[in-house]
Amino acid sequence: MDFFKYRKNRLYCENVPVERIIKRTGTPVYIYSGRTVLTHWRRLRSAFAAAGNPLISYSLKANSNLALCKLLKRAGSAFEVVSGGELFRLIKIGVPGRRIIFGGVAKTADEIKLGLRHGVLMFNVETRDEIMLINRVAARLKKTASVALRLNPEVEPATHRYLTTGQKGNKFGFYLPDAERLMKEMLALKHISLVGLHMHIGSQIIRVSPYRTALKRVVKFLEKCRAFGHPIRWLDIGGGFGIYYHGHEARPARVFARALMPLIKKTGCRLIVEPGRFIVGNAGILVTRVLSVKKSGAKYFVICDAGMNTLLRPALYGAYHKIGPVTRRPGRTVLTADVVGPICESGDFFAKKRRLPAVKPGEYLAVFSAGAYGFTMSSTYNSRPRPAEILVNGSKYQIVRKSETYQDLIRLDRY
Ligand code: LLP
Repeated sequence: MDFFKYRKNRLYCENVPVERIIKRTGTPVYIYSGRTVLTHWRRLRSAFAAAGNPLISYSLKANSNLALCKLLKRAGSAFEVVSGGELFRLIKIGVPGRRIIFGGVAKTADEIKLGLRHGVLMFNVETRDEIMLINRVAARLKKTASVALRLNPEVEPATHRYLTTGQKGNKFGFYLPDAERLMKEMLALKHISLVGLHMHIGSQIIRVSPYRTALKRVVKFLEKCRAFGHPIRWLDIGGGFGIYYHGHEARPARVFARALMPLIKKTGCRLIVEPGRFIVGNAGILVTRVLSVKKSGAKYFVICDAGMNTLLRPALYGAYHKIGPVTRRPGRTVLTADVVGPICESGDFFAKKRRLPAVKPGEYLAVFSAGAYGFTMSSTYNSRPRPAEILVNGSKYQIVRKSETYQDLIRLDRY
């Protein structure tokens, strides 16, 4: 569900007509619905409420805009970060360490230091080298670091091959036999306490069964850890819950929660989930202006002022995003076209062979479900400044990031 709806052929975000925003900001622009964000966050919390007091840790990589993070902080959210930069963002808005999980494939000594100083709840770790490094850094700071091992339960989550992370051959997590050796070795480390287990099997997952299979393996391993005297208190089942891009493919959070609850309860652990896309994905659109409509042979191209630099997902994953006009004009003919950007790359497209109304230059299109992995994966390729971000709240909206300028593009160059 979301709060982007047409009223009398005009697209609204909550109670604000999108046209009103773009008149002021120009395009391209990302527009977020705060109400959609909060609704999804609350849905997850109530879905998993039976687990006791679950920590819903929003995964910042999906969208790290500070105003959005603040909104979630006020709602009581915890957060998952994967870099010093993401942690810095949360420190800036005053999120206490006990509400932060520090994950990620590998961290530097400086990042670990920052995490320890800020008192993060725990580090999710996935290499032996990193465990040893955390132990050394913690010793230097005279602290004990809480860590969770990220396991690779080797399941097939049936999503895009770039979005699987808990499968044989992925770089992520420890295979169970390796984790077992390590868990025993960790008993000797004085500045580390193994307090949790973590899995994250992929992203945009629609099916429940891969979670269940993976979690069964994790729970079995958890019992082994406890038998060796590790005080495992946290069970982090990751994120990855799918949203809708096409129609109604997304499953309600309670479907996942219900299927996993018996296993979660059996552990007696406090639960952590770390969703990104589920919270913000359907809460954002990208609005772009049509610059040209070109016919090459029998083929139409709708060329927009946003491109793979603004929203990379179609170019990188062949991802499908719904596209619709900001103003509907009933009775208009329909066109089959490639919707593309202005970037000098053939991979620069939003849609291929898409049926859409025969728009003209100067009209605006909305690319839906762009709230997650949109702005955060944007770049300034071809020296195009990043767009503004807008947060809507009811009948009001706020510019929560200004669009970059040409000056911003060269600010750090020395010449
Ligand atoms: N936890 C960990 C350890 C992760 O690696 C991720 C995402 C999440 C949580 C949040 O996953 P979510 O709930 O958002 O699925 N750029 C891709 C998605 C990459 C996901 C990376 N890891 C895309 O645009 O589809």
